[in-house]
Amino acid sequence: MADRAVLTPELREQAEGIKARYPRGRERSAVMPLLYLMQSVDGRVTREGLQEVADLLGITTAEVEAVATFYTMIRLAPTGRYLLAVCTNLPCALHGGRETLEAARRAAGIPEGEEVSEDGLFTVDEEECLAACDAAPVVSVNFANYDRTSAERVTELIEALRRGEEPAPSRGPFPGDVRRMSRVLAGLPPEELVP
Ligand code: FES
Repeated sequence: MADRAVLTPELREQAEGIKARYPRGRERSAVMPLLYLMQSVDGRVTREGLQEVADLLGITTAEVEAVATFYTMIRLAPTGRYLLAVCTNLPCALHGGRETLEAARRAAGIPEGEEVSEDGLFTVDEEECLAACDAAPVVSVNFANYDRTSAERVTELIEALRRGEEPAPSRGPFPGDVRRMSRVLAGLPPEELVP
């Protein structure tokens, strides 16, 4: 059992609903949406969260952790409200990806050796490929891509987020903060997010 429950009784009920989407005997397939549900609670998945998913599915914490550490979408480290990923793989690097990454780190104001900016708003990761190589250099905010960026454009993007604006991604709607985005990925209505 987890030492401290992450899920409230209401969220626990939603977790049971997620499990029920899968056929009897195949409940372990719910591991990803359940990890997203945990992540929607405080923007990351804690040790207790991993244990609670294991308890829900009747598998070991090590099995849940093996999945959680494989996918970069599951955040185990402290994460800002906005997770920026800057691609520096070859096509993006050739179009200024590295300068874009440096500008993003500067604009976000993340102290050396820290994961999150002092205001709690930003985490900036270097990414291998964001699957839009023809639109290099690419930056994503909570997994929504912004095409053909630059050092200048990523700085503007971060300033807009800091002002509370919702800059439109190149495709799809603005995903909101990490907690909201995680609820969407768990397949749950984001408007029911517990404050
Ligand atoms: Fe940057 Fe693919 S190399 S999006």
